Amino acid sequence: MAFLTALFLFFLLRIFPAAIAQPNKLNRIESGDSLSPSIQRTAWYSPSKRFAFGFLAEGTGYKVGIWIIGGPNNVTVWTANRDEAAVDSDATLEFLRGKILLKPKNGAVQTIAPPSDRALYAALLDSGNFQLYAEDQSVVWESFKFPTDTILGGQELSSGKELRSSLSPEDHSSGRFRLTMQYDGNLVAYPVNTTDYGEFAYWASNTAYWASNTANGLYNGLFLDNYTGRLLLINVSDTSLTWEIARSKISHDGKDVVYRATLDYDGNIRLYTHRFSVDGSSKTFVEWDAIPDACDVKGFCGLNSYCVPNLDDGKPACNCLPGFELRDTNQPFGGCERNFTAGGGERCINGKEDPTFYNITVVNITWNDHPYFVAALPEKEDCRVSCAEDCDCDAAVYNGYSCLKYNLPFKYLKQYCYSGDCFLKLRNIIVVPRNTSDDQKPSWVTTLALSLSFVTYSCILFAIFSIFILKLRIIKYRKQLLGTRTTGLVKEFTLQTYTYKELKKGTNNFTQELGKGSFGAVYKGSLDRARNFVAVKELQKMVEEGEREFRAEMRIIGRTRHRNLVRLLGYCIEGPKRLLVYEYMGNGSLAELLYRTRPRPDWQERFRIALDVAKGIQYLHEECDSPIIHCDIKPQNILLDDFWTAKISDFGLAKLLMPDQTRTFTGARGTRGYMAPEWDKNMPITVKVDIYSFGIVLLEIVCCRRNFEVNLSSPEETLLSSWAYQCFAAKDIYKLMADEEVDQRTFERMVTVALWCIQDEPVLRFPMKTVLLMLEGIIDVPIPPCPSSDSQT
Ligand SMILES: *[C@@H]1O[C@H](CO)[C@@H](O)[C@H](O)[C@H]1NC(C)=O
Ligand SMILES: *[C@@H]1O[C@H](CO)[C@@H](O)[C@H](O)[C@H]1NC(C)=O
Ligand SMILES: *[C@@H]1O[C@H](CO)[C@@H](O)[C@H](O)[C@H]1NC(C)=O
Ligand SMILES: *[C@@H]1O[C@H](CO)[C@@H](O)[C@H](O)[C@H]1NC(C)=O
Ligand SMILES: *[C@@H]1O[C@H](CO)[C@@H](O)[C@H](O)[C@H]1NC(C)=O
Ligand SMILES: *[C@@H]1O[C@H](CO)[C@@H](O)[C@H](O)[C@H]1NC(C)=O
Ligand SMILES: *[C@@H]1O[C@H](CO)[C@@H](O)[C@H](O)[C@H]1NC(C)=O
Ligand SMILES: *[C@@H]1O[C@H](CO)[C@@H](O)[C@H](O)[C@H]1NC(C)=O
Repeated sequence: MAFLTALFLFFLLRIFPAAIAQPNKLNRIESGDSLSPSIQRTAWYSPSKRFAFGFLAEGTGYKVGIWIIGGPNNVTVWTANRDEAAVDSDATLEFLRGKILLKPKNGAVQTIAPPSDRALYAALLDSGNFQLYAEDQSVVWESFKFPTDTILGGQELSSGKELRSSLSPEDHSSGRFRLTMQYDGNLVAYPVNTTDYGEFAYWASNTAYWASNTANGLYNGLFLDNYTGRLLLINVSDTSLTWEIARSKISHDGKDVVYRATLDYDGNIRLYTHRFSVDGSSKTFVEWDAIPDACDVKGFCGLNSYCVPNLDDGKPACNCLPGFELRDTNQPFGGCERNFTAGGGERCINGKEDPTFYNITVVNITWNDHPYFVAALPEKEDCRVSCAEDCDCDAAVYNGYSCLKYNLPFKYLKQYCYSGDCFLKLRNIIVVPRNTSDDQKPSWVTTLALSLSFVTYSCILFAIFSIFILKLRIIKYRKQLLGTRTTGLVKEFTLQTYTYKELKKGTNNFTQELGKGSFGAVYKGSLDRARNFVAVKELQKMVEEGEREFRAEMRIIGRTRHRNLVRLLGYCIEGPKRLLVYEYMGNGSLAELLYRTRPRPDWQERFRIALDVAKGIQYLHEECDSPIIHCDIKPQNILLDDFWTAKISDFGLAKLLMPDQTRTFTGARGTRGYMAPEWDKNMPITVKVDIYSFGIVLLEIVCCRRNFEVNLSSPEETLLSSWAYQCFAAKDIYKLMADEEVDQRTFERMVTVALWCIQDEPVLRFPMKTVLLMLEGIIDVPIPPCPSSDSQT
């Protein structure tokens, strides 16, 4: 009974904390009260004197915040306007009815909380929460709702919000890591400047509501329980649903503890207990940390540097790779760059790197980033050679059965090589020392050295040139001899380059147009005297792009090989002309099949095509090189070969139109009707835009019609995506199907999976791997929520 009462009280307290935690008159902060960093009052205190609100020293200036008193160092738990510059000691902080103003002598006045005329008085509670109250004692504003890097006992981080680490223990401006309470119920830590995508995460509670271990519900808040010291995931509307992340070993006894969970500056998540003595002093205990090996925090070290664990004080260091040095010696985490500028010169000859210019060394380093290429190879020596010869490869790891290749700049490196077979390619072209800007005249030694290196360089160039000419001759000779361009094996693995003249001839002067895509016209042709057909695509709306970048891009596209992707055979680049040569797809596009064929194509056939498309997208997103976002998945871009295998075309091209695919796309791309809402909302573009488009394509495959179609019997059917949800909500999805025979199970799966894919909220869309497993019936499909608030209208 007593237990039940306690439980009841606990929930009462959680629901009405403001009502219980009425500040007594003594600690009221009234209109007209003020603080200053150096003279008279510098802080307002909580009744227990464990927390203070006021000026805290930062660098040479001051910021406003809340801290825990009592230890050897005061611990900052909240900072107002953390990214504003610190103010000088002549600033004042004033509480005037409705607002709290920070007034520096020079500089703009800052508001600490949004001004509200209702705010009559303020108080700092014993929980560390700073609150503003209206006349009726209701809370107008509270610091607990706007956490920075910490939550305290009794505080909650609700869905969609995140903690952001501080820059360093001394500097509380926004740091390099974030901890996000995702809408899917998962609590995930990422480095900043990343999207919420699994590959960037370095820690997660793994409690997304579809994860098998937590199939019992959806968590929508992170809560630190101030009675038991448990760090919990909770459901605000269903108190029976909790998931314990960590627990303080010192549970509440008397009222002598303060609990705190912080995303620390080093990216680790820690649970602390501050234990107070009668005299007001306190001791701090670390109760739990999320990441035992600090070097597993992605982004702890900057680009091209690797994390070295320090067993003595637990604080890891960042070392530059051999041949690299710190970009800025004052910023040990700021990343490294080459300590020389590489002299020009083409090192790539016929697609192979010239071995005179590099060394491959074995290193004790692991790459936690995505490799750009993975190949199954039998021996580690094959992996070494594969990287050595590949002009794009800068490092490789052999894990016993496959070779993972990486290229610069490197991210997320750590000292330690799991398999003992980690290779780094050191390039040493003509080394030009960095211009050290002190105006030294070259001495005769450097002059001599420079002339010598010039002579050496010229000799090497000449040698390369001669070899090149010789090779050309040999190739020409072979060509005459064999009558073919190259041997079968080479053709299988390398991209051809064609001259414009060849393509013009092969397509009969660009006469037979197959269609117009988003990038330009496509022509049918043949480049081997009509034995095999090819499709030649002329790229028109290109951004100005260098030849080098274009070739690099072609190499990346050329390397993506999958049964469900249209293969790129070669390309032509001449002046501004850019043409791509693809394998020819004999059965046209999925659009023709869906919209034109009557009666509708067989259900099993359509289901198989849907699986084909899903596999192609999954390969682009998750399996091949670094993820490729297609950006324009639609039936017109899905082609069917002679055996009716569906293959995706135009992948990898979005990047050519938008120079920086990973960060921002300027303006909208993609095709209306298939475009995810992120495009219009100026949100980050991730692989999830393809999942959205795929969802629309799935519905079109189910119904054999366009997503948007007028002149239908009833107006609500105009937009297929919202009509499908209406039917689903009305428990009548069979309305979507015409008079045809479908397989009930695959039909239901396709519709529900599609409704998940077209969720407005990108995090709600499953990754392609899950989508595929659901379509195949290997895992169950949960009941989808309404895709968007306005799709029901
Ligand atoms: C726990 O939090 C509630 C409300 O936030 C507060 O009233 C109570 O005093 C706190 N208990 C302790 C032990 O700090
Ligand atoms: C901690 O905060 C208290 C209260 O503002 C202050 O008196 C004390 O000097 C601070 N201690 C340190 C080490 O900064
Ligand atoms: C994140 O991006 C911002 C804006 O581009 C930049 O100023 C900041 O340095 C970046 N932070 C890191 C850690 O890369
Ligand atoms: C948890 O909260 C969400 C709303 O945020 C609700 O839809 C769900 O039913 C709740 N309960 C469980 C057990 O997941
Ligand atoms: C490359 O390796 C060779 C032989 O191991 C060595 O003599 C040479 O100094 C190395 N060059 C560089 C730049 O490390
Ligand atoms: C590789 O690095 C790990 C971690 O720093 C270290 O313990 C190990 O001794 C190193 N191995 C070699 C062969 O240097
Ligand atoms: C580059 O750094 C290496 C060591 O990391 C050093 O031996 C070399 O002298 C440096 N080169 C230049 C040009 O500074
Ligand atoms: C090196 O720096 C000096 C002085 O800053 C400048 O005059 C000179 O042109 C620079 N040399 C190169 C190769 O950039």
